[in-house]
Amino acid sequence: MAWTRKDLLHIEGLTPSEIQRILNTAKPMKEIMHRTVKKLPTFRGKSVVNLFFESSTRTRSSFETAAKILGADTSSLAVAQSSVNKGETLLDTVRTLQAMNPDIVVIRHANSGAAHFIAKEIRAGVINGGDGQHEHPTQALLDLYTMQEHLGSVEGRKIIIVGDILHSRVARSNVWALKTLGAEVVLVGPPTLLPLEISSWGVKISHNLDEELKGADVIMALRLQLERQEKGLLPSLREYTQLYGITRERLQKTEKPTLIMHPGPVNRGVEIESSIINSSQSVIEEQVTNGVAVRMAVMYLLMGGTSHVVD
Ligand code: CP
Repeated sequence: MAWTRKDLLHIEGLTPSEIQRILNTAKPMKEIMHRTVKKLPTFRGKSVVNLFFESSTRTRSSFETAAKILGADTSSLAVAQSSVNKGETLLDTVRTLQAMNPDIVVIRHANSGAAHFIAKEIRAGVINGGDGQHEHPTQALLDLYTMQEHLGSVEGRKIIIVGDILHSRVARSNVWALKTLGAEVVLVGPPTLLPLEISSWGVKISHNLDEELKGADVIMALRLQLERQEKGLLPSLREYTQLYGITRERLQKTEKPTLIMHPGPVNRGVEIESSIINSSQSVIEEQVTNGVAVRMAVMYLLMGGTSHVVD
């Protein structure tokens, strides 16, 4: 069956079967990643443009790798050296790109809603690579994929997301994705780092990590943007780590072989004790690998998803 959405802008509103279809499509994509020759003819003649107005290591390189494996031509607009610096508007930048007739545009932007705005203006499929504090859909999909690889279904599983929920597009996308697939989600953080409207998200909220740990199948720590302390949202990094850092002592309280996840980049010793990052419970590097497979799947489906990809 053909995929009918032109864009992937958010997780909120995707149906369980749409989410699962992307995850199922990512499975053969991951197998292709491990072939000796990692190149498909699927996207021959197609072009993918990366348009990143904010810094990125994982998302940008992952989309680029994914597009190349699928056989697409890829290009990245170096925003720092582009005419954006000469005052060109986002819309004019995008119209210029559209004139080159790309098939897919991946955009990361500091403004929530930027990906939606662009998607309405251009014919190409648009993938949201993170917009402001709104959503980061492919991050949530790769997180789900990683959880499913280890846990099977996430239905009924206890997933703790801890940290700066207020500023986190990763948390928002994960909440929608996990709720849609029936997981039990607990959001934990200091009151200053939780959004005011959080009670409407329909998940459990807590300020006390230690009280929530028992039975956790997954703990996902979010990156703490260190400038939050300067803005007075945190008394000190040391106090944050004491209350919300993932330590060996805390991990024992789950009484389970809990998976440790993080979208990256990690502040070692702040969100997670350094030795845990390299332990067998940490799946942080697997998240990065799965990111390529999931992004291959998303691009493949947006392009129609009907050609025979695995041969
Ligand atoms: N997880 C994530 O979005 O990382 P980057 O900022 O490096 O892309």
